[in-house]
Amino acid sequence: MTRQRKRVVVLISGRGSNMAALIEAAKEGAYPAEIVGVVTDNPGAEGLKIAEANGLPTETLARTDFPNRPAHEAALEETLRGFDAEIVALAGYMRLLSPAFVGRWAGKLLNIHPALLPCFTGLDTHRRALEAGVRVHGCTVHFVTAAMDDGPIVAQAAVPVLVGDDEASLSARVLKAEHRLYPMALALVCRDEASMTGNGTVFALPGTEHNPRILVSPAFSDAIQNVEDLARFTP
Ligand code: GAR
Repeated sequence: MTRQRKRVVVLISGRGSNMAALIEAAKEGAYPAEIVGVVTDNPGAEGLKIAEANGLPTETLARTDFPNRPAHEAALEETLRGFDAEIVALAGYMRLLSPAFVGRWAGKLLNIHPALLPCFTGLDTHRRALEAGVRVHGCTVHFVTAAMDDGPIVAQAAVPVLVGDDEASLSARVLKAEHRLYPMALALVCRDEASMTGNGTVFALPGTEHNPRILVSPAFSDAIQNVEDLARFTP
């Protein structure tokens, strides 16, 4: 049976390294998504160059070019429709989306956050994790709801906080995990193996086949994986 690849648009505001990880994953023929476009709110976003180097169409919608948030979001909506997007992946898109927008894309809108949610929402997650003295930190891919860095969790990756870590070393370790986690989580959603239902994520195991990717999902939250273990679960 040949599966239809889901049409995914990635939204970025800056560097675009998670976007790049999704683009790389989608180059694999068996990957269940194709990246059909990249949209940014920041004309200077470095990630635009990566998207263009990969031959992807990009669209820049600077907030300052629009009189208000509804107008900005209407343009974003039109752009997404223009790309015929089925799934929207926020990858360092640093703008809150309105409840109306999020409602229209419910279950189709994903975000990656550099912390083990619900801990450390917002900015400066690595500094705050170090200040809190946590020994385990990580990243989360979740369905987007109207609240910031909130919504049903699809997958998480845990990394250790090592003695002597500073913000730079910890963020680099988490970022490496992000680049593995996001392609895996997007694949789960595009294969309809993870879907948003009410306030939660429902996981479907395809057939009787054992799906080890589920081990990093909240369904097995007691089985927090060390980031090195994640390599085994890369799609
Ligand atoms: C990533 O660490 C991502 O998790 C974070 O922004 C960074 C973007 O980097 N997102 C958030 O903090 C969302 N609340 P990238 O542009 O290189 O992917």
